[in-house]
Amino acid sequence: MSMNKLAGKNVVVIGGTSGIGLATALAASELGANVWAAGRSDEHVESAKRIAGGRIVVMKADTHDQESLLAVFRAAGTIDHLVSAATGGTRTLKPFLEQTEDQFKDAFGKLWGYAKVVRTGAPFVAKDGSVTLVSGAPARKIKANSSALSCVGAAVENLVRCLASEMAPIRVNVVSPGTIDTALFDWMGDQRAERVAAMVKGQLVERVGRPEEVASALIYLMQNGYATGTTVDVDGGQLLR
Ligand SMILES: NC(=O)c1ccc[n+]([C@@H]2O[C@H](COP(=O)([O-])OP(=O)(O)OC[C@H]3O[C@@H](n4cnc5c(N)ncnc54)[C@H](OP(=O)(O)O)[C@@H]3O)[C@@H](O)[C@H]2O)c1
Repeated sequence: MSMNKLAGKNVVVIGGTSGIGLATALAASELGANVWAAGRSDEHVESAKRIAGGRIVVMKADTHDQESLLAVFRAAGTIDHLVSAATGGTRTLKPFLEQTEDQFKDAFGKLWGYAKVVRTGAPFVAKDGSVTLVSGAPARKIKANSSALSCVGAAVENLVRCLASEMAPIRVNVVSPGTIDTALFDWMGDQRAERVAAMVKGQLVERVGRPEEVASALIYLMQNGYATGTTVDVDGGQLLR
């Protein structure tokens, strides 16, 4: 039985120029898919092009800009597997009562971006294809200072269940990463190693995760034609801590 169902398939990864999205784009390409990856900044578009070395098509698109998304989807034509791993909103880390209303609202940029990706991309997705979004452990792991991330992640996971039901036979799923070593933590600067180590302390798998480990769950959800409406956690056991 051949497990490689990605050879010759068209895979589009929005938020595919760094971290989890880029690892997914490269993994899909490795499995023989034709891959289009897109992100917002020139910096990440250029670095993704350098890393991919022509194996994938890298484009500029913003989850909040329908025209830029359409340009990517039209370039692909028919999409077998659509992924959005874009961040798309601010990551507000503060007690709820210390956040301004705008800070709380801005975190939901991720949800609105994903909604636009799905709404714009759906007409291009093959009936036997899939859509996969990325939430995050805070959706179901409640911690101090994480109300914004938690509410957005939970909304993404519920949107996925609604879409799976409404968009069938297209399959719709979500991957929930734990603490993964990506550009998301670059803002920590010199303190990065120390702060990330503190975040994963006491976890069942006591280390930071790799983007490739999350990418393998995204690839699984593309390949498994019987998986829909489901959430795959790749979080080192964070939910059981
Ligand atoms: N790393 C973690 O520990 C972790 C944990 C839980 C959940 N997640 C989720 O995993 C997803 C991927 O994050 P990552 O860790 O791989 O971060 P990353 O390395 O910063 O990658 C994020 C990607 O999304 C793109 N992007 C951001 N906003 C965008 C927008 N509005 N439109 C289009 N592209 C956009 C970025 O490109 P530009 O910067 O050029 O826009 C980049 O390609 C995110 O949804 C994040 O919330 C990550």
